[in-house]
Parts: sequence; structure tokens; C-alpha cells
Amino acid sequence: MIPVFRPSMGDDEIRAVEKVLRSGWIGLGPKTREFEGQFASYLGVEHVVALNSCTAALHLALKVMDVTGKEVITSPMSFVSTNHAILYNEAVPVFADIEEDTLNMRIDEIESLVGPRTAAILLVHYGGHACDMDPILEIASKKGVRVIEDAAHACGGEYKGKKIGSIGDATCFSFHAVKNLAMGDGGAITVHDSAVAERIRKLYWLGISRGTWDRTKDKAYKWEYDVEEVGYKYHLNDILAAIGLVQLQKLDRMNARRREIVEKYNEAFKDVNWIETPVEKEYVKSANHNYVIKVLDGRRDALIEYLAANEISAGVHYIPNHLYDMYKPYYRKLPVAERIWRRLATLPLFPDLTEAEQDYIVEKIRDFK
Ligand SMILES: Cc1ncc(COP(=O)(O)O)c(C=O)c1O
Repeated sequence: MIPVFRPSMGDDEIRAVEKVLRSGWIGLGPKTREFEGQFASYLGVEHVVALNSCTAALHLALKVMDVTGKEVITSPMSFVSTNHAILYNEAVPVFADIEEDTLNMRIDEIESLVGPRTAAILLVHYGGHACDMDPILEIASKKGVRVIEDAAHACGGEYKGKKIGSIGDATCFSFHAVKNLAMGDGGAITVHDSAVAERIRKLYWLGISRGTWDRTKDKAYKWEYDVEEVGYKYHLNDILAAIGLVQLQKLDRMNARRREIVEKYNEAFKDVNWIETPVEKEYVKSANHNYVIKVLDGRRDALIEYLAANEISAGVHYIPNHLYDMYKPYYRKLPVAERIWRRLATLPLFPDLTEAEQDYIVEKIRDFK
């Protein structure tokens, strides 16, 4: 069976993990700090804080932006982590409808939904295709609200030549098993302000004032610390960071491979009248996290079943979150999201997808009757 996603792991990742396992320090320590430093230079930002997931990053980003009791404008077209993070903070998700082509939140919707109770706009760069940041930042600055980015799909992506991660007030990344930069599990948050970064470092380990590594690295182990507020268990560890350091070296190459496969699919499906292929706007360099077609003839589910019968996995990303049972209290009618998700099918896309596998997928899809 050809999977939808598959991480690209090699001997270098295995050697890096072995080195950490033999080093005597496998928790939060020097490899995590090294990963933070290298990811910060890759993005061209000052502050990266590594965490154990993007879900954790979203929770803390919203927390340090003080959203509790207020509204957060958000996308229905996301993994549910995005919107759970709003609820973790006891804030109110206000769902914005999406653009037909990019599946990102519509700017006119965002503008009309920002009101006196809005604390933040939480953007999702769907599939690694950046939202149109300039008009969104303009709305946010005019109305005095924060911009937080869910860049779980967008590692290595760009908006007008700027790396995603360097633009909004906070950007959250995922290094989950199938992401463009994969560690198994992991995440990071970028912020512009050093005091905010320090607060996140306190919150990621239960509110403890100085981590064990920081208390050990100079001389003797210092056992004393204070606990300044209620925090969480959200930090990364050195085993995962070691995998991340190798993956970071390969990220641009892996993303270039994703792009080649996307171009091949787009070309192969351009004359298939029941398929609409994904777009890339001129202001974007997509990270191509997934390859999502729109099935125009109402046979999306039949296509997915047919592909499965031919040993090809396909998925749906996503059921709009406002349709989930527990999000009913936050329901608003979102005509585009409610119509378009029934057409979406995610086809296999990952750097190690072979030419033969790509040809087989294209052939089977073109043969679908
Ligand atoms: C858009 C989006 N946001 C957030 C997440 C959560 O990431 P993590 O699994 O690292 O918590 C995911 C993961 O699938 C995602 O796709």
C-alpha cells in the first residue's frame, strides 16, 4: 500500500540518535539548544523555543498573547489542535470561511469578524501555502489584535521571499512524524520578543525558573529552583532534537523533491476535467506539505475507495472543525468550507515517493471511471 505520507529517515538520523543515547544526556539539553539555534538561523529569526508538539506551541502562543476570555478568529480547515488550543485557553473560537482555491481563511471574513472582544487572529497556512500576510497584518495592526500562525504544514515555506516563522507575533511549527521536518513528535514556536521567549521557556517545564541542563552545564549540579507559575510538560528532548538537526540539513532538498512531485501531478491531471489541482499564488513559495485535489463530479468517496482497492492510500484534510460535535456551540454557517470539503482528496506526497509509484498513481487516477 502506498501511504499518503512517509517520513524520510536515513542512516544520518540513526547515527545522530545513537550518539545522543551514548552521551549520557537524553533529556532537554545541548542538542535541543543546538536545534533551536540552527532553526533560528534557517528562519532568520532571533527566538526559537523548541517544544514537544505544535499543539503545545499553539497552547502557549495563545497563552502568552493573553487571549483568555476573549475571541480568537480561526480556520475551520485545520487539524483540530488549532482550535483545541483556543479552548485550552478558555477563549472563544470564531470561525472564518475559507478561500475556494487556497483553503486559507478569507481576508474579508477576517476583517468583518474582528470586533471589540477579539484578541488574536490564528492563521493556518493550509498545505504549506502561506496566507496573504500583508493585508492580514494591516487589519491586525489597525484593530490592535495579535497574529499567530499555525505553520504545522509550512516548514520551509515563504511569503514574498520571507520565511514563514519570521512574520506574525508568534509562529507555531510541528515536527510530528509526517511533517516536512519530522522528528516523530516535536514542535517549536518563534516570537520576536526575548521576554516572551523566556516566559515560554518557563511555561514549557511546569513554571520552573531554570531547567536541569541550565543548572548543570556550568559547574556542579545546582539543585535549587523556584516555581513561579503553573506551567506544563511541553519541552523537547535531545533524542528528538538530534533527529531534527539532521532533518533541518535536508529540509530544502526534501521540499524541492516535494515540489517536483507536485509539478508532475499538476501536469498529469491538467486535462482531467473532473479534477481541480492545487494553486500556488505569486506571493508564495509553498512548502507543499500535502497534495490535495478537488474532485468536481461528486465522486470523492468513490475515488478514495477505488484507490484503496488499488493499494493507494488517500485521505481527507479536513472535515471543517466547526462541524465537529463538540464545536457546535461555536457554529457559524461557512458556505465555502461546508461545500468544498466534500470534494477534497489528499493523494500520496512525500520526498521518497518513487517515479514508479508516481506513475502508477497517475495512471490509476486517470483510469478512474
Ligand atoms: C494544521 C495543524 N496544526 C497543528 C497540528 C498539531 O501538530 P502536533 O501533532 O505537532 O501537535 C497539526 C498536526 O497534524 C496540523 O496539521
